Amino acid sequence: MITVKGDEMEFENLKVETTNRIAVVTINRPEALNALNEQTLSELQTVFTDVNNNDGVRVVIVTGSGKKAFVAGADIVAMQQLSALDARRFSKLGHELMRSIETCSKPVIAAVNGFSLGGGCELALSCDVRIASENARFSQPEVSLGVIPGFGGTQRLARLIGKGRALELLLTGDMIDADEAYRIGMVNKVVPQEELLETAKSMATKIIGKGPFAVKLVKEAVCTGLEMDLDRANQYETELFGLCFASLDQKEGMLSFLEKRPANFVGQ
Ligand code: HXC
Repeated sequence: MITVKGDEMEFENLKVETTNRIAVVTINRPEALNALNEQTLSELQTVFTDVNNNDGVRVVIVTGSGKKAFVAGADIVAMQQLSALDARRFSKLGHELMRSIETCSKPVIAAVNGFSLGGGCELALSCDVRIASENARFSQPEVSLGVIPGFGGTQRLARLIGKGRALELLLTGDMIDADEAYRIGMVNKVVPQEELLETAKSMATKIIGKGPFAVKLVKEAVCTGLEMDLDRANQYETELFGLCFASLDQKEGMLSFLEKRPANFVGQ
């Protein structure tokens, strides 16, 4: 279990279980298909703030409770009566969370176990890797509700699958199945639902076996580099590559190869 100052964290709308340094964060509002209300956003923010500096967690998996939905969007009941200022604040809260996930020092895998709509799709987009179950469905249906995505969907979807495909999904609100999401590069893998968590955990375990310092810098190089022009991004990669040589993990990684044995990384 993730701990804060020695206490176990208790949540109203989340379940968090940490085993073998993999934190599985399950959004748990099945009565509303795990829709994101303010409380759920705040709880997720608390988890990701903790995870960032928690040596007991090396990879995070985000999923939804039940077999039907990952997250069916932001909570429409809660949003319906918002004033413009409150809607802006709600969007900002979501943006801050998505950015915390995107910039989290640990890799984050979305295990998409059903409907991933609106804010749910945006949550999946902010994760580093998406693994979908065969029954997963994706859409940005906000235009059907008379609004636009507000947790980064207009930005991250276009960056992930390209402007033309993103605009088609955003303008029509069309729902696509897992195979189509895989075909257009929105998800990394599609697996039967009963294998979803195991597949995500096995990817997490593979990542945990690598040099933790390098894993952290890979994510940083890709995510920060994508926001720069290529020359600056390549320069940034060069600096981070150099930094690896100040780590014990680089020495151990290369020595273990030469000594033909598994590496024993310490994450420094
Ligand atoms: C609140 C929701 C919800 C949501 C489902 N529910 N989605 N409640 N917010 N986003 C509730 C339903 O009202 C219902 O409650 C229960 O969950 C089960 O859903 P049903 O509709 O009965 O299930 P089904 O007929 O199988 O249809 C599943 C569905 C549909 C296709 C996923 O629920 C749906 O279209 N949901 C809305 C999807 C959506 O528009 N998402 C985008 C939201 S906008 P009761 O009480 O009736 O049992 C958004 C903006 C993000 O995300 C940015 C914000 C800044």
